[in-house]
Amino acid sequence: MVTIACLLQRAQQLSSPSAKLDVELLLAHVLKKPRSYLYTWPGKELAGDQQAEFEQLLARRHAGEPVAYLLGQQGFWTLDLQVSPHTLIPRPETELLVETALSLAQDKLPVRVLDLGTGTGAIALALASERPQWQVTGVDCVEQAVQLAQHNGLSCQQPQVRFLQSDWFSALSDEYFELIISNPPYISLDDPHLQQGDVRFEPSSALVSGTDGLDAIRHIVRQAGRHLAEQGWLLFEHGYQQSTAVRELLAQAGFVKVRSECDLSGHERVTLGQWSKREAIAC
Ligand SMILES: C[S@@+](CC[C@H](N)C(=O)[O-])C[C@H]1O[C@@H](n2cnc3c(N)ncnc32)[C@H](O)[C@@H]1O
Repeated sequence: MVTIACLLQRAQQLSSPSAKLDVELLLAHVLKKPRSYLYTWPGKELAGDQQAEFEQLLARRHAGEPVAYLLGQQGFWTLDLQVSPHTLIPRPETELLVETALSLAQDKLPVRVLDLGTGTGAIALALASERPQWQVTGVDCVEQAVQLAQHNGLSCQQPQVRFLQSDWFSALSDEYFELIISNPPYISLDDPHLQQGDVRFEPSSALVSGTDGLDAIRHIVRQAGRHLAEQGWLLFEHGYQQSTAVRELLAQAGFVKVRSECDLSGHERVTLGQWSKREAIAC
């Protein structure tokens, strides 16, 4: 029998930069207790099956698997979301996209919102949780991601959010939205980061988008005008070196008031523009 204090020492075996936190999260998960329990009861011994489960999880973490996949969940905004290897683990950076979207419309307006490439449903559900009167739709081309988002919609008490399987706009025929928001795949095919860290375990359908990483954004910009209400907004998250290219794509397609927003590190990670049919015809 080993104690909690003894297993906490195992963090030294992990090369992860967050080794101590990783071990705490895995141990708390196995014990089905909050992390504070580990330091309140350091002398408590684990049952044999608990220790075996912990050892298995630690071995998988040692091999590089993301903690969120091992736990099956990840916090985003104020929500606890189930995650799966069929789609991206929601990142804290994406909260900038949510904040920017929330700043665009007054609380009381009944805004129609489309989240393209919804994955776990993170963005759609965060917006719906802040603006219950908004009509939010999330789409993804991966069937298992749509099922996951639907599950998260129910567990986050947002059953009104609609999730559809769709290749970008394909399932939305003649629907219009005041806000179209997307954190699409935006990594280029040969980016060496794809061979490092957590992303090695995430599906390429959620990460990679052509030779320059911009294929999905180009496609969405070209199609968005058919689904945006006049003066509606299109917002993207993108890589920190892609803001100039994304602003150009939006301006060339006839979007106005095009601008980028910086994350806490000062990198431009969100770009948006307002749809103007008159400008688009002129382009
Ligand atoms: C970067 S992940 C973002 C997931 C989630 N929105 C988030 O922010 O955590 C991109 C998502 O786009 C989806 N996707 C990729 N190609 C797509 C397509 N052609 N149509 C719809 N969704 C697509 C992927 O399956 C993945 O879930």
